[in-house]
Amino acid sequence: MNFEDRLKPVADEVDATIELYFDKDPDTLEDAMRYAVLGGKKLRAFLVVESCALHGVPYKEALKAAAAIECIHAYSLVHDDLPCMDDDDVRRGKPTVHRAWDEATAVLAGDALQSLAFVILGGLDLPSDRVLSAVIGLATDAGKDGMVLGQARDIAAESANDPLSLDAITALQAQKTGALIKWAATAGPSLAGDDIGPLEAYAGALGLAFQIADDILDEIGDEAKTGKRLHKDADAGKATFVSHFGLKGAQAKARSLVAQANDALCVYGAQADGLRAAANFVISREH
Ligand code: IPE
Ligand code: IPE
Ligand code: MG
Ligand code: MG
Ligand code: MG
Repeated sequence: MNFEDRLKPVADEVDATIELYFDKDPDTLEDAMRYAVLGGKKLRAFLVVESCALHGVPYKEALKAAAAIECIHAYSLVHDDLPCMDDDDVRRGKPTVHRAWDEATAVLAGDALQSLAFVILGGLDLPSDRVLSAVIGLATDAGKDGMVLGQARDIAAESANDPLSLDAITALQAQKTGALIKWAATAGPSLAGDDIGPLEAYAGALGLAFQIADDILDEIGDEAKTGKRLHKDADAGKATFVSHFGLKGAQAKARSLVAQANDALCVYGAQADGLRAAANFVISREH
């Protein structure tokens, strides 16, 4: 089966799960939140669902954990697009939240999506020590040592005098994109109290490959397919694998990372085919 046909039903169920947390009669803030979080590929949600299935976490709880990570991801995109960050007008083929409403609404919708993620995750019907460690883990991976730190370094790199070293780019991307992907892919063993080692190794390679693919799409993608403005990273002076290695070098690096990610899954045998398909999709995707 085509990977996107596998992704779509998960995306729809996760969107339906998120909808349950909104009022029937939404106000502007809720409208903006729903606009930001519903839709999108829901790749992180897919990673949560597959990882939970591998470790026997009930599907209903997996969907809530998937909804939580997608709320954090959507908040990160709403803020990433703001004029003070990447200044983007289009996301998922639609005007960005600050364009569809205004900057204050975009800041607040992002803030409230972040809070909602923890309402959803904190409500998981699993042993409370596991839920607590998932909450602390997500807060850590989203925050000052994870995604937000990566975003801060990404913005700082735009005005740095010297180009970042490969190690610095790798660390930045592991934080900005890798941290949320790692949380998603390790959600199953973490919520089941099992060893996260193999999925942590998978996610480390996958997260980096994911951001390299995003940076390659920025260079050679098709805006009609990505649903966001491209050719921005080089103009903004972003430090990426493409800026460091060139296009061909970045493509080779992404391919080798996907092979590494898939190798890390061998302990799961054929049961991890969904995660293998996700890794292959990450570097072949057009959006
Ligand atoms: C885009 O993520 C932002 C990055 C971390 C590069 P996705 O490509 O997963 O975005 P959506 O959720 O499908 O729109
Ligand atoms: C965004 O990276 C990463 C986060 C939102 C954390 P990018 O700035 O490259 O993502 P796009 O290209 O705008 O989707
Ligand atoms: Mg950015
Ligand atoms: Mg951006
Ligand atoms: Mg990008």
